Amino acid sequence: MNRRTQRAKDLDTLRGTFGNEQVAENERRASVRALFDRIAPRYDLMNDLMSFGLHRLWKRAMVREAVARLARHEGPLIDLAGGTGDIALAIKAADSARRVIVIDASAGMLDVARRRGGERLDYQQAEAETLPLADNSAAGVTLAFGLRNMTDPAQALCEVARVLKPGSCLILLEFSKSAAWFAPFYGLHSRFIIPTIGALVARDRRAYNYLVESIRLFPAAGDIARALDKAGLTVTHSRAHMFGVAMLHVAEKND
Ligand SMILES: C[S@@+](CC[C@H](N)C(=O)[O-])C[C@H]1O[C@@H](n2cnc3c(N)ncnc32)[C@H](O)[C@@H]1O
Repeated sequence: MNRRTQRAKDLDTLRGTFGNEQVAENERRASVRALFDRIAPRYDLMNDLMSFGLHRLWKRAMVREAVARLARHEGPLIDLAGGTGDIALAIKAADSARRVIVIDASAGMLDVARRRGGERLDYQQAEAETLPLADNSAAGVTLAFGLRNMTDPAQALCEVARVLKPGSCLILLEFSKSAAWFAPFYGLHSRFIIPTIGALVARDRRAYNYLVESIRLFPAAGDIARALDKAGLTVTHSRAHMFGVAMLHVAEKND
């Protein structure tokens, strides 16, 4: 079996991977979906344990950016790859009149979101690469920790650009390449602690090995800015969290 372990330079490189394994695109889609269906009941607890709760702070900053930009546009907010719905619910709490739609490929993750969000949110099971939304219809899109899992991430960004209203924004939060001095510490955490917690708490070491491998492969911030630009989305603001472990990008759809 071929293995890929170096950080990719562009999103297209991810299409033939499942973590470090080289796989066909349909296998990538099926494996990612099955993985999130499997870990959905323990997903939120695992996020808290693995990040020591830090993901909540990063998401809070993301929600602030999204809400500030939403004020300029009418229409729904799409929480793409919205998973268990925490970001969608925080946006709804801050902007109660806004229709907020959680879109995700995994039925298991959406079940958890539905139990949590009830009638406050709308839910659609769909692939980001073929969004069931009209052109220029969304007031904003949030996408947290989802892009690196998509079957064809570059195509997903083109779909985001298609459905956003001109001048509205994608708020993207994703793991990135940390500062060189911090990399050894983060490396230890991701090599030993994350898979161990995955095995003990989620009882799924393979799933958490995949998450670590997919984080290591994901292109660095400059390459992501280029990919956004190629899709017609201009980065207007970026912020590094925890020495670059995660990056927040605000990218505006060109008029
Ligand atoms: C790491 S979780 C992130 C969930 C949530 N946004 C969060 O930050 O906690 C990644 C999510 O991406 C979803 N996903 C993966 N591929 C997708 C695709 N092609 N289209 C839509 N959602 C996808 C998964 O089902 C999963 O819920």
